Amino acid sequence: MRYKDTTELEISSLLEVIYQKYGYDFRQYSEAHIRRRIMNKLRMSGLENITQMQSMVLYDETFSASLLQDLSITVTEMFRDPGFYRSVREKVIPLLKTYSFIKIWHAGCSTGEEAYSMSIILQEEGLYDRTTIYATDFNQQALNYAKQGIFSNKMMKEYTSNYQLSGGKESFSNYYISDDNNVIMNQSLKKNIVWANHNLVTDSVFAEVHLILCRNVLIYFDRNLQNKVQKLFYDSLIDGGILCLGSKESLRFSEFHEEYSELDKQQRIFKKKY
Ligand SMILES: C[S@@+](CC[C@H](N)C(=O)[O-])C[C@H]1O[C@@H](n2cnc3c(N)ncnc32)[C@H](O)[C@@H]1O
Repeated sequence: MRYKDTTELEISSLLEVIYQKYGYDFRQYSEAHIRRRIMNKLRMSGLENITQMQSMVLYDETFSASLLQDLSITVTEMFRDPGFYRSVREKVIPLLKTYSFIKIWHAGCSTGEEAYSMSIILQEEGLYDRTTIYATDFNQQALNYAKQGIFSNKMMKEYTSNYQLSGGKESFSNYYISDDNNVIMNQSLKKNIVWANHNLVTDSVFAEVHLILCRNVLIYFDRNLQNKVQKLFYDSLIDGGILCLGSKESLRFSEFHEEYSELDKQQRIFKKKY
């Protein structure tokens, strides 16, 4: 048996307290990720040790809210990994066109850039009016931001380039209006997006959906938790439904590997077998 070091023990006790007090379950997140974030928080907050941090979690809600933010990494972009969206256009959209209504689930949507990117593709492909996009995350602050659809215009150069590389058919600036600091996404892109708080670890199956996108989320989970979430995805998809994991994730070690065929090997896009 391998004995845990003191820091590991302190961290697992801290995660238990977070779970018991706030219901956020980080106990099966990847150890390396959690350790890095907690040690970073320790340095930044000037606390002496993790045990002190644990009592802050018990008695200081403001501290706890900021710790929860730190544990959930919300980095995202519009048309992030343009090759992925190119593949969605070429391989996924033709399949979606065969349905008279379409339900899409963006799991771990962060501040919403991914869902707005999908809305743009669906509009260009003439599918938006028959689609509902469920965009979910367990980070309410990120969801509140997503709902507004207001982004810094500093990012627009990069997003425009991503959009073009992804096979965009219009001028990207058609999709927003800008002021001095920000851009506001067109209202028409939001109208079929339902933003909802959903925790992949503790909440249950989500509607019967045709397409699930969950990119850059499972990398933070350990193998057991990845499997648990893969079951959730499998149970949420209709037969023939599509699962998009993106190039950083894998289905290879999952017990559901055999239940899907591969639509795009590199972008990890799979189709649930009938
Ligand atoms: C790095 S972002 C990825 C955003 C987007 N999918 C992308 O690829 O650009 C990871 C997101 O997963 C969310 N997340 C982490 N654990 C989660 C959980 N248990 N349930 C729901 N969302 C979770 C985080 O809050 C964060 O917004």
